[in-house]
Amino acid sequence: MPRVLAVGIATLDIVNRVSSYPPEDAEVRALSQRRSRGGNATNTLVILSQLGHSAAWAGVLPVEADSDLVLADLAFHDVDVSAVVRPPEGKLPTSYITLSADSGSRTIVHYRDLPEYGFADFDELELEGFDWIHFEGRNPGELNMMLEKSRRLGIPCSLEVEKSRQGMEALFALPDVLLFSRAWVLEQGIDSPERFLREGIGKGPSFLAWGAGGAWCRSVGGDIFHASAPAVEVVDSLGAGDVFNAGVIDGLLRGLPLGDVLAGAVKLASAKCAREGLVI
Ligand code: FRU
Repeated sequence: MPRVLAVGIATLDIVNRVSSYPPEDAEVRALSQRRSRGGNATNTLVILSQLGHSAAWAGVLPVEADSDLVLADLAFHDVDVSAVVRPPEGKLPTSYITLSADSGSRTIVHYRDLPEYGFADFDELELEGFDWIHFEGRNPGELNMMLEKSRRLGIPCSLEVEKSRQGMEALFALPDVLLFSRAWVLEQGIDSPERFLREGIGKGPSFLAWGAGGAWCRSVGGDIFHASAPAVEVVDSLGAGDVFNAGVIDGLLRGLPLGDVLAGAVKLASAKCAREGLVI
């Protein structure tokens, strides 16, 4: 069973489903509410675990009551938490999420007051034996050292590039696979996936998820692949990008050709959008 380590966050997600997204200063009643564990890296891990991989999380989880929900969910999905750092103070990052039944959009207000997982923590891990390391692109200075170490050990790794962070571009040459989000590409002022991918970025393949537009991938040799998203009724798009990333890592670990990796990841993310939560 391939062993995958992911470095990134866990959150408490308070998710309100509403019939349509409210205007500012309105008061509306939610159709339903749930409190669940979220966070990109741990979302990706619970999917990888369901796909048959052995999953482990390296991140920061404060000692406080809300963290119990994170531990319970990760235990349920068999995700190893032995690499987790537990500061006695701090607040579990919390996301207040409005899911619009109308449009399928998810609007997130995120609160965070917790140190990031650092290289000193990573450096203490027993990394030999992992077949893949996935990094959430959060903390470029520290990530640079983590990626360098993974490379020295010859462990394949992926980097998720979702939000703008200063110094992120300097990391692009290090991972074996880059996983871009539409938000990141749009922030660069580029609205065409092909245009973004045309220039080679990084040393391996690059993937780019584009919501209802499906996803794109560029091989090292410069071939561009596209997979369209099957038409589904979007019930819950929260974490769809994290599911896509899990699909890519799974396909690559299985040694599938890139076009099949891409198509499989899009199918998985679309299936997730058609149902609530992260159980596939
Ligand atoms: C979804 C998600 C949520 C979390 C937020 C953090 O991708 O991981 O579960 O609250 O993003 O940015």
